[in-house]
Amino acid sequence: MPSDRDITEEGSVSCSDAPGMGRRDWLKLGAGAALVGFSACDGRGALEELRPPAGAADDAWRAVRGRFLLEPGRAYLNNASLGMPPREVVDAVCEGYRHLSSEPLDGKHLLQDQIAEEVVPRLATLLGASPSEVVLTRNASEALHLQTTGLDLSPGDEVLITSQEHPAGRRPWLFRAARDGVAVNEVFVPSPLPTEEEIVEAFARAITPRTRAIAFCHVTRGGHRYPVRALCEMARSRGLVSLVDGAQAVGQFPTHLGELGCDAYSASLHKWMLGPSGTGFLYVRAAARDRIRSAFAHDASLESPAFDPPGTLDLPVRAALSSALDFVETLGLERIEARCRFLSDHLKARLSESSRVTLLSSNAGQSAPGSTIFEVEGIDALEAVPLIESRADAHIDEHQRDGHNAIRISTHVYNTTEEVDRVVAALLD
Ligand SMILES: Cc1ncc(COP(=O)(O)O)c(C=O)c1O
Repeated sequence: MPSDRDITEEGSVSCSDAPGMGRRDWLKLGAGAALVGFSACDGRGALEELRPPAGAADDAWRAVRGRFLLEPGRAYLNNASLGMPPREVVDAVCEGYRHLSSEPLDGKHLLQDQIAEEVVPRLATLLGASPSEVVLTRNASEALHLQTTGLDLSPGDEVLITSQEHPAGRRPWLFRAARDGVAVNEVFVPSPLPTEEEIVEAFARAITPRTRAIAFCHVTRGGHRYPVRALCEMARSRGLVSLVDGAQAVGQFPTHLGELGCDAYSASLHKWMLGPSGTGFLYVRAAARDRIRSAFAHDASLESPAFDPPGTLDLPVRAALSSALDFVETLGLERIEARCRFLSDHLKARLSESSRVTLLSSNAGQSAPGSTIFEVEGIDALEAVPLIESRADAHIDEHQRDGHNAIRISTHVYNTTEEVDRVVAALLD
């Protein structure tokens, strides 16, 4: 993981340099220098001020909270729905659009180069993949459609999904069932999760001679964390393709796709990675290209798989992922994981003080660090969430799925124990 990449040594471009600069001027500075110019253009978001926090407690993370635009005093504990990009990411999007609008073709080429030469390779490195295995998408849903519709299947072939899929993961399979006559069979997975062995065993039991693939979440909407490596190993040993929905995983803890062993993996970058809204990616393992194919190119080949959605793109949004990568790499994914876990442990401790609360999140190994779900006796989650939000000046979410009438609280690095306490007090009042 290139977490030791020192952005500040790559040079900086002051805001007064930026207007009127042509593509060649920008490129003369090198992609990294241009990137820093975009990131720090208004002088507020300079990354060199950000230091890796020491420890997981609030004091060490106060400066990090200051990087977010959320009104002071308001608490955002719904990161699992949509992440909150820090100001350097917002600045990068603005500067990208400014450049694109003042010098359209120069801007376009500069941003395209930045995405191809900077964003995709760095993202691939962070994910333990090769750049040729990763393409950017608008979100996880788009990537899930591409991996599902790209899988080579014949009528009557079977696919196993779980009872805990997000609609974004389930709907592409319903499409394959309706269009191609694929049988989509659901493996029931209880919530809270059973043991890892029981999950793998439930999949193994459901395999028939017609089964071709298994599909499941790395982390579910409710924060349950699946044994991805064990499931992919089992799938490979039975000759099956494995396809993973990583929307709730990437950015919350280190994820090494090569080691996980999945054939395809789709994720959002606008949730836990703190990228701008409208960003995600699709990973297809190089060795799986004979079974998962491009939805776009008639002339795609194993060497040139052409998974990229074609056409004019939201280049400034994608290029701003450089700034999100800077941010996450400076903090470090291990430290982000520890901080998220610290906050959700605090939340769980506070909730367990009430006999009315039933915690539904599994133990640490099987729950995502930042997402917690629970039921409160006598409370309808849908009705309670807006009330709690207005009492605590906070954002949270419901989780009426998997048979639960639950509330979901998702904590990222910018939250504090005080915010958690405030929400719990409003909740139990
Ligand atoms: C498990 C899971 N998969 C997929 C998605 C869809 O993500 P996106 O909005 O990036 O398409 C979500 C969104 O919340 C999710 O929780």
